[in-house]
Amino acid sequence: MLKGKKILLGVCGSIAAYKSALLIRLLVKAGCEVRVIMTSSAKTFITPLTLSTLSKNPVVSSFEKNDQGQWENHVEMGLWADMFLIAPASANTIAKMAHGLCDNLLLATYLSAKCPVMIAPAMDLDMYKHPATLQNLKTLQSFGHQVLDAEHGELASGLVGEGRMAEPEEIVAQVESHFSKKKRFEGKQVLITAGPTYEKIDPVRFIGNHSSGKMGLALAHTMASEGADVELIAGPGNYSIDSDSITLIRVSSADEMLHAVEERYSKTDIAIFAAAVADYRPVSPAEEKIKKAGESMTIELVKNKDIAAEMGKRKSKNQINVGFALETEKEEQHAQEKLAKKNFDLIVLNSLNDNGAGFSVDTNKITIFSVDQKPKHFELKSKQKVAEDIVDCIHEKITA
Ligand code: CTP
Repeated sequence: MLKGKKILLGVCGSIAAYKSALLIRLLVKAGCEVRVIMTSSAKTFITPLTLSTLSKNPVVSSFEKNDQGQWENHVEMGLWADMFLIAPASANTIAKMAHGLCDNLLLATYLSAKCPVMIAPAMDLDMYKHPATLQNLKTLQSFGHQVLDAEHGELASGLVGEGRMAEPEEIVAQVESHFSKKKRFEGKQVLITAGPTYEKIDPVRFIGNHSSGKMGLALAHTMASEGADVELIAGPGNYSIDSDSITLIRVSSADEMLHAVEERYSKTDIAIFAAAVADYRPVSPAEEKIKKAGESMTIELVKNKDIAAEMGKRKSKNQINVGFALETEKEEQHAQEKLAKKNFDLIVLNSLNDNGAGFSVDTNKITIFSVDQKPKHFELKSKQKVAEDIVDCIHEKITA
């Protein structure tokens, strides 16, 4: 499965750098071609000679000429790789990657690389748990990178906790799974709605909701990483996309979202309706800013078209529609009703009664209902992992 895969391994300054030697051996044994970039502090933990001997390639670490007198070309290395694996990834390098800093060859290559990126953090437990590190790891996940969980155990400091780099065998298994999964959605056209919609009251005010778009974004990245061609139709939100397989179509109102979906739906194989679409909009938005007047005011609202339900009517037998239901009471009943009413094949339920589920958090706890299968309950997880569970269920559905 890994035969011929080109793995660019980034090694940072961490005691776990000694595991890089075994990691390279396992990758080479599995048939990979491995090239290594070390940060200068990594060289204080393990020698370039060890890693170049095992990888059978020169190891590079600076912009200066290498032993063969050649200039190290970070752009060429970034384009060469099928995957950039950073293991161990130190807190320092993780922070620099998250913020686009570029003061060494590893970071310049990271910024130039077009391939998937996998990160295996390694650090002391308090560094790993620090809000700054957690935020940086989330940022890297939001770029679509796969972040492997650090393991629990004894650390170099003598403390016991989470922070140990995943074992080389586990990292290789994740690399294998990345490449084996990658093709599951190749050739598939996937449409995803995400985020809130803003319904205009006047030029400065709108009716909206707290949806962040994170769930739709995580789904877009997961589908793209598995080979799908993704069109993400997103309401207002503060993120950008860095993937050639995802086209971001920005909309504001429910009506704009409907038109963007209508235009593309017939060419879609899988549609995922993750947006929190406003059910109503002001009948006639004011042209000028509404001035404060009486003690109360009334805004007359009119119903928006239900995008998912409309597409449910147009669905052909080769198309799959997936919906979401965010409920606060009678959750299962409402989810099952929406599944039938909107002609979904699957519906993802999250309940606001579950701690950690909902709009503005990075985690979610879901149950997936299907027209022809028993409900599947999942634990509380990061939205990225939740996206992977949803994508697995969609895959089951299309291959059933
Ligand atoms: N949806 C949509 N267009 C709308 C409203 C909802 O596409 N105008 C989609 C959502 O993206 C989601 C599903 O329909 O996939 C259910 O959304 P939800 O707001 O829970 O459903 P409603 O039918 O609006 O029901 P409720 O009365 O609970 O708001």
